Amino acid sequence: MRDCASHGRQTMPLLNAASGYGAFTKVLHWVVVVLFALQFTSASIMVRVAANGTAIGLSQAIYYNWHKSLGLLALMVAVLRLLARKSGRLPDWAPTLGNCERAFIHRAEQVLYAAMFVMPVSGFVYVMAGGYGVNLFGILELGNPIGGKPWLAGIAGWIHTLTAVVLGLTLAGHVGLVLWHQLVLKDRLLYRMLPRR
Ligand code: HEM
Ligand code: HEM
Repeated sequence: MRDCASHGRQTMPLLNAASGYGAFTKVLHWVVVVLFALQFTSASIMVRVAANGTAIGLSQAIYYNWHKSLGLLALMVAVLRLLARKSGRLPDWAPTLGNCERAFIHRAEQVLYAAMFVMPVSGFVYVMAGGYGVNLFGILELGNPIGGKPWLAGIAGWIHTLTAVVLGLTLAGHVGLVLWHQLVLKDRLLYRMLPRR
């Protein structure tokens, strides 16, 4: 029987293999991109709109609600993504990447994975310790396992903001490097994360 994991032209394997990223990793990568884009967009709107104001017809409370709910969904996707990363093996490096670029990618991926967990956990601790709570997608009021602790809310809120800045800078490097290779060096690096290699 042929090993489809080792042939680029065969059906794309589910798990990562030496020849490239698997379907799980690719799908989850782009799901996280969409969720993070929604998170940064909702956050920048909700912290600017007045408590009784609206933006594009939606109240501030709706933005907060969706931000918290999608953030917790992103945490679940991050768990799946980590499992996908730990299964199979990491693909070989793209041959067009220099040693410095490989070192940067390695560190950047560590930061991105850490941020995928620190962002939602710090947000959750912030709203629970602050006594704001979470009404999941407007249908389920979550219990508060932490209870009101203003000092903890202060620390968690600070971690949420700081991690958002580190995440934004790291993403700029990550996307910048991929686009540089894709558009300037034209070595098709982006295709390593797209359905067909
Ligand atoms: C992937 C997950 C998440 C991302 C990328 C994200 C991103 C952000 C960003 C960029 C901000 C604006 C910067 C700031 O004021 O701190 C923010 C604010 C906020 N986030 Fe998140 N967040 C995530 C998850 C969550 C979760 C799960 C919750 C709560 C359950 C949450 C609650 C909040 C709150 C309440 C604020 C406003 C803080 C304030 O009013 O100053 N976030 N988030
Ligand atoms: C929220 C935004 C993003 C996050 C958190 C993220 C995270 C990651 C991580 C952790 C990896 C390593 C593979 C893995 O274990 O999943 C990766 C690989 C990759 N990402 Fe992203 N990424 C983001 C946005 C983007 C965007 C917008 C692009 C396109 C310009 C992109 C293109 C790629 C490519 C092409 C690879 C494969 C690089 C290689 O190994 O050759 N990413 N990304």
